[in-house]
Parts: sequence; C-alpha cells; structure tokens
Amino acid sequence: MKRILSGIQPSGKLHIGNYFGMMKTMVQQMNTSDLYVFIVDLHALTSVHDRERLQTGTLEAAADFLALGLDPERCTFWVQSDVPEVCELTWMLSTLTPMGLLERCHSYKDKVAKNIAPTHGLFSYPVLMAADILLYQAEVVPVGKDQKQHLEVARDLAQKFNNAFGETFVLPEPAISESLATVPGVDGQKMSKSYGNTIPIFMDEKPLRKVVMSIQTDATPVEEPKDPENCNLYALLKLFASPEKMAEVHDLYLNGGAAYGYLKQDLFELINDYFAEARARKRELLANPDYLRQILARGAEKARAKAVVTLDLARDRMGLKY
Ligand code: ADP
Ligand code: TRP
Repeated sequence: MKRILSGIQPSGKLHIGNYFGMMKTMVQQMNTSDLYVFIVDLHALTSVHDRERLQTGTLEAAADFLALGLDPERCTFWVQSDVPEVCELTWMLSTLTPMGLLERCHSYKDKVAKNIAPTHGLFSYPVLMAADILLYQAEVVPVGKDQKQHLEVARDLAQKFNNAFGETFVLPEPAISESLATVPGVDGQKMSKSYGNTIPIFMDEKPLRKVVMSIQTDATPVEEPKDPENCNLYALLKLFASPEKMAEVHDLYLNGGAAYGYLKQDLFELINDYFAEARARKRELLANPDYLRQILARGAEKARAKAVVTLDLARDRMGLKY
C-alpha cells in the first residue's frame, strides 16, 4: 500500500470545489492506501495571528473531514503542531536549503504581493512543508497545481540530504490532478474562496438556495437549444444528478426547453440533500469539541510514533547523536 500524505490549511469555509477536487478523493483513498492527513496550523501561523481564529479554524477543519467521511481508524489524522519533531527536522533541512531555491518560489512572491507580511516564516514555508512530507516518508503527495513547486523543493531537499549523509528519506512523488475537472463557481470562473464565487458545503438551507439561484447563466430563451458544454449550471448539475436525470437535462439543452430557473431549483435540492447528513454530523461534532480533541490526540500519537523513527535516523546521519 502506498503511503499518501496531504496537509490542509485550517482556513475558511469548504466549498464544493474543495470537496470534488480533494476531500472526496482523500476519503476514497482511505481504503487503498496508507493515508496521512493533517491540519497545518503551523503553516497557518504565516498568515493568521489571531488566537481564537486559529483554534476554531483547527477544530472546524477536523470536524469538516470527519463529517465528510474520513475515518480516523483507517488513516492517520492529526494536527501538525502536535508533532513538534517536524520543527527540528525543518531546522536540519534549512541548513541544506540554498537561499536561491526559496527565492524562486512563486507562492512567497504571490503572498507578499497580496500584502501578507514577508516574514522569515513565510519565506521558509516550503522547508516546513518539506519536513512535513519527509518526516513521514510519504511516497505520494496529492496537491493542487499551486503546490507543485513546493513539492519540488521537498524532493530537492530529500536528495540533498541523501547525497550528503546517505540514504535517509524517501523521494516523494507529486500527484497533481490536472485531469480532474475544475469545478466552476457561480460566475463560471474556477470556484475559489479568493474569487468570492463559492458554493459552501456546510451552508444552511436558506442562504444555500440564494447562492445557487445566483448562478450566472446566459440569456438564451427557454425554448431555444443551448450548449451544455459551456454552461456552468450544467457542469454543477453533473456533479450531483443521477445519470438518468442528466440524460434528460442534456436532451432539454440540445432540443430546447431547458429553463435555468427550474434547473437551479433542482440543483439546490440536490446539493442540499447531498450534504444534509454531513451538515448534521458536523454540527454534532462541533458541539463536542472534547471528542474532536480526543480523536486528534490519538492521531498525533500515531503520527508521532512514525516521526520519531525518521527523526532519530536523520539525527544520527547528521552527527547529532554522539
Ligand atoms: P481555494 O482556491 O478556494 O483557496 P484551496 O487552494 O485552499 O482552495 O484548495 C484546497 C484544495 O481544493 C486543493 O487540493 C485544490 O486542488 C482543491 N480545489 C480548490 N478549488 C477547486 C475547484 N474549483 N475545482 C477542483 N478542485 C478545487
Ligand atoms: N502548503 C499546502 C497548501 O497550502 C498545505 C501543506 C502543508 C501540505 N504541508 C503539506 C500539503 C504537506 C501537502 C503535504 O495547500
């Protein structure tokens, strides 16, 4: 079984793009891989300096994953800072990290352009991420395209370490889902929290209906034929409707008779039903934060057991054991 690892920022409200682009795949991989999933609160510190926001964000991210079906018994699920070994490995790796390698990282430049403070932490973000990956000897790391360069940094540092001190780290492979269809937002662009065009997963019924009704469509009259391939409403329906329903809708698009207003109502009902159980489950989980803490503590214990073995080896290789 391959060891698959991914870290998730504890920031913001999950949307259906996140769900179909990442979480659904993660939950499915639970059965076929040795899955490691963690909430990257140390990384979040590079942009969040608000005690309560970080605390709530971390618990909420945990509730999100569990509500959507992640089973902590069938994977390792924890909060990054609960395994402090990652910080020691970060330091070790940083002594092998050329400044130029970090200076070339787009993500740093993009974030500074967006007015995030250019701190040392933000600059060395990729080194902490490399430590995240190498500490658990991950073989495969599924990430979005924006994280591809960070994964190259992780591979590069693993290689540098292995060359300098002998085989120690597994070289991680990125799994970048270019082929995975991008979920469009209500305006037809890629759904993203930075574009403000999302359909949040855990939104209550009333505001959810409002968001779905705001999906932008063209002005073609009901009776005229329409192009399903270039319609964001159609693309969204396809994620939720049964094949039979989609065949009907496809027919209406091609032959005329597709009324956007009715289809939006259908979509609202489908989304509302699809996530109803998860929404209730999330509410229950958040009402019992101690239960969440318990799950995360057990996850940290499992993760830490793996981390100490790797760190011990790395310490030995570097000459920190005497
Ligand atoms: P956002 O763009 O809203 O800030 P993130 O960058 O935090 O989302 O993405 C978290 C995960 O969700 C990534 O794995 C990313 O590939 C996936 N994801 C985000 N938006 C979409 C989308 N519109 N379609 C498919 N996957 C997405
Ligand atoms: N940097 C990633 C992001 O912003 C999150 C992350 C931190 C991560 N450490 C990781 C992802 C290790 C994969 C593996 O999305």
